[in-house]
Amino acid sequence: MRILVIGGGGREHAIVSALSRSAHKPELFCMPGNGGTAELAVNVAVEIEDPATIVAWVERNPVDLVVVGPEVPLVVGLANLLKFIGVPCFGPGAAGAEIEGSKIFAKDLMGRHGIPTAKAEAFESKDEALAYVQEHGAPIVVKADGLAAGKGVTVAMDIAAANAAVEACFAGDFGEAGEIVVIEEYLEGPECSLLAFTDGVTVLPMVPAQDHKRAYDNDEGPNTGGMGVYTPVPAVDAETLAQMVAILERTVAGMRDEGIDYRGVLYGGFILTAEGPKVLEYNARFGDPETQVVLPLLKTDLVDVMFATVDKRLSGVTLEWSDQAAVSVVLASGGYPGSYTTELPISGVAEANEVPGVTVFHAGTTLKDGALVTNGGRVLNVTALAPTMAEARTRAYEAVDLIDILGMEYRTDIGLKALQALGEA
Ligand code: AMP
Ligand code: GLY
Repeated sequence: MRILVIGGGGREHAIVSALSRSAHKPELFCMPGNGGTAELAVNVAVEIEDPATIVAWVERNPVDLVVVGPEVPLVVGLANLLKFIGVPCFGPGAAGAEIEGSKIFAKDLMGRHGIPTAKAEAFESKDEALAYVQEHGAPIVVKADGLAAGKGVTVAMDIAAANAAVEACFAGDFGEAGEIVVIEEYLEGPECSLLAFTDGVTVLPMVPAQDHKRAYDNDEGPNTGGMGVYTPVPAVDAETLAQMVAILERTVAGMRDEGIDYRGVLYGGFILTAEGPKVLEYNARFGDPETQVVLPLLKTDLVDVMFATVDKRLSGVTLEWSDQAAVSVVLASGGYPGSYTTELPISGVAEANEVPGVTVFHAGTTLKDGALVTNGGRVLNVTALAPTMAEARTRAYEAVDLIDILGMEYRTDIGLKALQALGEA
């Protein structure tokens, strides 16, 4: 069995790692991969921006399954092209991926199917957008429609900030993603990511996880792709979880009714408001860094789950999870999310991996003349599993202390809120 994983971040290392534990012993390929996936898979140095290039490689190198990590290949129709040549793809076609690729598509879908979310309106005119902000006041949220790598959202606490965000969108700061601006109601509450496997009919939720998007401790500083994550999430009780699962089920049923055959991961980005969970956004793929705490806890064979997903057999699958806590701390290059240098030496990863329960997933790393060096903003994800959140945090930071990268930055409070809520602090 041969499986190709598309992507080269911490998420893809975690996917490759989970696939490598399979009883099927698949031969794994990762395109382009990173310094970590190189230990478990054959890294394939092919540009993944253009789906035609990926398909051309698959035609020369037959595989039984393609697993897509990032959103861009899905939104531009990689799954459709693979279907055309008869290769199963874990990840939706372009129509399904619109749920992530267009905030307007997602909002309209939620509207049609009664799914709770922030009230929102879309604008193609700057003046109308500014007038709407004036009328509704702050706090208010301004979003560039389309993919902006998580950077197109401004939570404006005052009107001046909202106006500036509208101006930035229409000035083209987010490229094509800013040609339409969505302005929405500000919601308050803890956030939580719930990912689910779905074959377009059955929805099998994973364990909920909490991301930390701000760069610095105490949720301060600029937004990032994610600085750390943990599970379980104490803010999610059984009833809240059931409500979130019901929302994902309604979403999949809604798409099915509209002719979209969605197979892969549906990721719900929820905010837990006083009125119950509401959807902030959907993603059409595994989350990064959520995957780095979720998949290590999956006891069911991931190869079986993925083939059941693409073959529409998920109704016959039960997912089994470890009941451990998991914490993942992101080690970032100095300067991230702003500019940073690359090719800095990385030391201590082997020692960190020796800490009980710890796995170091690689994100922005590569091998240069056989040595591990940095190759991106988020460099490593240090994941620790343990029977309690307190122990998982201790193990993760013990491992972090063993790793050295000149000028590296990381948050020291990943999982701390959960710990306090659990009374373990
Ligand atoms: P999004 O990419 O749409 O999930 O937005 C990125 C981040 O902005 C979210 O994780 C939230 O922290 C914040 N955010 C987005 N929409 C809202 C909203 N309506 N109310 C409050 N915060 C929001
Ligand atoms: N953790 C946020 C994302 O994957 O989009």
